[in-house]
Amino acid sequence: MFQKDLFKDKVALVSGGGSGIGLAIAQQFLACGATVVIASRKLEKLERAAVQLGSPTNLLSFVMDIREPEQVEQLADFIQQKTGKLDFLINNAGGQFPSPAADISPKGWNAVINTNLNGTWYMTQSMARHFFFEQNSGAVVNIVLNNFRGFPGMAHSAAARAGVMNLAQTLAIEWVSKGIRLNSIAPGIIQSSGLENYPPELTAGIAAKIPMKRLGSVDEVAALTLFLCSPLASYITGETIYVDGGARLWGDIWEL
Ligand SMILES: NC(=O)c1ccc[n+]([C@@H]2O[C@H](COP(=O)([O-])OP(=O)(O)OC[C@H]3O[C@@H](n4cnc5c(N)ncnc54)[C@H](OP(=O)(O)O)[C@@H]3O)[C@@H](O)[C@H]2O)c1
Repeated sequence: MFQKDLFKDKVALVSGGGSGIGLAIAQQFLACGATVVIASRKLEKLERAAVQLGSPTNLLSFVMDIREPEQVEQLADFIQQKTGKLDFLINNAGGQFPSPAADISPKGWNAVINTNLNGTWYMTQSMARHFFFEQNSGAVVNIVLNNFRGFPGMAHSAAARAGVMNLAQTLAIEWVSKGIRLNSIAPGIIQSSGLENYPPELTAGIAAKIPMKRLGSVDEVAALTLFLCSPLASYITGETIYVDGGARLWGDIWEL
């Protein structure tokens, strides 16, 4: 399905492409011939990723913070200068911390909403204005999370991601005549660098609570991302697809 030249002459921007799920997405796009731009806050992370990816000439990096609209504009200018186009935006950058809702401070709440909802919006609007409207084409894939039954212990992020999923539905219609498709992927628990931010006692034994009895892999999320950007998904827009081993339907990952 994913042939070597599937994305030849295409350009993909992967926010948070320096680690975990984003890195796997960048790797799979490169393997299919795309030019890939990875963008995040930490230069060292992007440099390390470039080495891991074999430092190909069709890989570009840009240090920026998706929460800062001016930096998002600078990223768009950089892409314009380097490639002159953008075909795919993968809104993967994000983060959160576990906490009972009652204990979340205004600062903590705003930090998560600002990254996961506002940052995603700044990126989407900016890339559409700079590239997709004029090109009359574009595909956006948001990496959100499995909030199918809410997400007790992660109220801020679940709310932010619900906003992103709903935003994708709105934009899928507002921008349908511009040839732009927007979809979201809701990963369950994925074996990736992001899990290292959680206390081990929270993640221990988690696989046993997932119907498929294992965590997902970064490659399983990446494969769906590429599918949603490909011509194979040309009639799919405004959709959210769960990559969660059935976890949205049964089982609780931690005790109340
Ligand atoms: N792993 C899971 O089980 C799981 C499940 C559901 C959803 N997700 C979501 O999937 C996405 C990727 O997760 P992951 O597991 O691969 O974790 P990760 O390795 O921590 O990836 C997050 C990436 O986002 C970047 N980032 C964070 N804040 C940013 C900001 N303000 N501006 C620009 N870049 C920023 C980080 O790079 P810098 O530090 O360099 O900025 C990092 O590369 C995240 O949105 C995560 O919440 C993960």
